Amino acid sequence: MRGFKIAIVGATGMVGRTFLKVLEERSFPVDELYLFASAKSEGKILNFKGKEYTVEKLTEGSFDRDMDIALFSAGGDTSKKYAPIAASKGVVVVDNSSAWRMEKGVPLVVPEVNPYDVKNHNRIIANPNCSTIQAVVVLKPLYDKYGIERVVYSTYQAVSGSGQKGIKDLNDGLAGKPPALYPHSIVNNCLPHIDQFLDNGYTKEEMKMINETQKILGDYSLKITATTVRVPVEYCHSESINVELKKDFDLAELKELLSSSPGIQVVDDPSSNLYPMATTAANTDMVYAGRIRRDESVVSGVNLWVVADNVRKGAATNAVQIAELIAGQI
Ligand code: A2P
Repeated sequence: MRGFKIAIVGATGMVGRTFLKVLEERSFPVDELYLFASAKSEGKILNFKGKEYTVEKLTEGSFDRDMDIALFSAGGDTSKKYAPIAASKGVVVVDNSSAWRMEKGVPLVVPEVNPYDVKNHNRIIANPNCSTIQAVVVLKPLYDKYGIERVVYSTYQAVSGSGQKGIKDLNDGLAGKPPALYPHSIVNNCLPHIDQFLDNGYTKEEMKMINETQKILGDYSLKITATTVRVPVEYCHSESINVELKKDFDLAELKELLSSSPGIQVVDDPSSNLYPMATTAANTDMVYAGRIRRDESVVSGVNLWVVADNVRKGAATNAVQIAELIAGQI
């Protein structure tokens, strides 16, 4: 494969730095690399493959160079403004913010689930929300084999989902200082509040999970509800997913199906205290599923416990996988 000219917007952030790590680990063919962040990071030095790169301040002229792909993770406002500028200069943008995800004509892609959607882009492709990515990796094989009637999501989400400010709030709280980002201390606490509250009583994060799952699975009639909760864990989102299936299933067969599906590792041996956990999923790219058991309150239901590294598979790795799909096309 030929080499590519890559830009990273938000290079100094938690996801931005992980883009660099994942590009290097996966030996993505990078010919040229451009790093962008806000004015405060101008001149900072970051490393990629043993070479030093200087961070530039993002401006409207940043994309007036020969670039193939830009990976964005600098917040929704930056993406809203700069992704169309990059796209108008011929750069294909993979955007990690929520700015473009539900826009018509913008593919929302998880490579294990809907790689075919990547084709129909107008130079902006959206990376889904971190909690949605790990959920749909597990739902897709169930959807294809049994059909899905209804999904109930309950999440336990790491503070790194809020970027470096989230980690700081947790560490400051452990040192006895008040929170700067969250409305309450996250130490010894669970906050049923991720992103803003909406008029319907849900949070934006909950509606993202509902809307994005429907878009990725291509089924807007799918019944889904969600409660999303921030917990005092640094890395990895854990999710309880209750799924009502359309067809009946054999539990051993369902576990086998998940084990043999892309991107999933089943960890499910309760007799040895083995189940997915944040501490074991951290720094990996797999989606772990366990505690797989019948929901005995309905005709054909299953409960699952699903854990993945929200900064890697939930953000950076998924975006780099999308870049790999694009690289195969250009
Ligand atoms: P900076 O470090 O200069 O503030 P995180 O979510 O981990 O906090 O990271 C956010 C990333 O987005 C950082 O790289 C940050 O750069 C970048 N960023 C924030 N606002 C802007 C902006 N207006 N223009 C460019 N980059 C931005």
